[in-house]
Amino acid sequence: MKRLMVSLLSVFFVLVAGSAAAQERQDPAAPDGLRAGGTASQTLSADPIAGQPKQAGREVLNYPEQPPVIPHTIRDYQVDKRSNRCLTCHSREDAVDAGAPMVSITHFMDRHKQVLAAVSPDRYFCTQCHVPQTDAKPLVENQFRTVDEVLTEAIREREGGEP
Ligand code: HEC
Ligand code: HEC
Repeated sequence: MKRLMVSLLSVFFVLVAGSAAAQERQDPAAPDGLRAGGTASQTLSADPIAGQPKQAGREVLNYPEQPPVIPHTIRDYQVDKRSNRCLTCHSREDAVDAGAPMVSITHFMDRHKQVLAAVSPDRYFCTQCHVPQTDAKPLVENQFRTVDEVLTEAIREREGGEP
């Protein structure tokens, strides 16, 4: 009787394990990307889109040639061949009325540094370089050091102090 129980139980476990394996074959685990993968048949919902930029005004640049981050929302602002919503506030003619900073002189230069009368085609698609700052959680740790930190460290090293 005892032996019968043992063999029945083992058959039971083989069946359970087998069906789990079959299940795994039919619906294999999907790799994790930026969000958890789940299995091939599952569609897990994405994280909510990062919040709107903080309306905290213009931000300090991290280095002199940084394209400043956009301190306002740009939702539904169209930029295409026919119209450029950004320039309705940031162009030379409209900036004063809009109370917006005018695009700087570099935006009028072509690749030979020749200053043109209108914004250069090189600088037409603003979001190629400028992006709004959101409250998104960084995907990787940021090890950026400001130029002031690098300089201070270099000076300290040259003076033979602790690095
Ligand atoms: C309705 C007018 C308006 C539109 C349209 C607009 N902006 Fe602005 N933008 C502003 C104003 C006003 C400021 C200044 C905000 C402040 O000082 O807090 C600003 C600030 C900026 C700054 C920061 C500049 C700096 O030196 O820090 C950038 C970059 C910028 N906008 C890019 C854009 C881009 C790119 C677009 C199009 C996708 C755009 N803006 C559309 C009004 C506008
Ligand atoms: C190829 C990259 C690039 C593109 C495209 C570009 N910008 Fe810039 N922008 C920069 C950089 C870099 C700076 C900061 C240094 C400078 O002024 O050149 C800047 C500065 C600015 C500033 C601040 C000006 C100031 O005097 O402080 C504004 C406003 C701005 N850009 C708006 C725009 C708008 C609007 C567009 C689209 C019509 C645009 N930019 C397209 C790179 C770009």
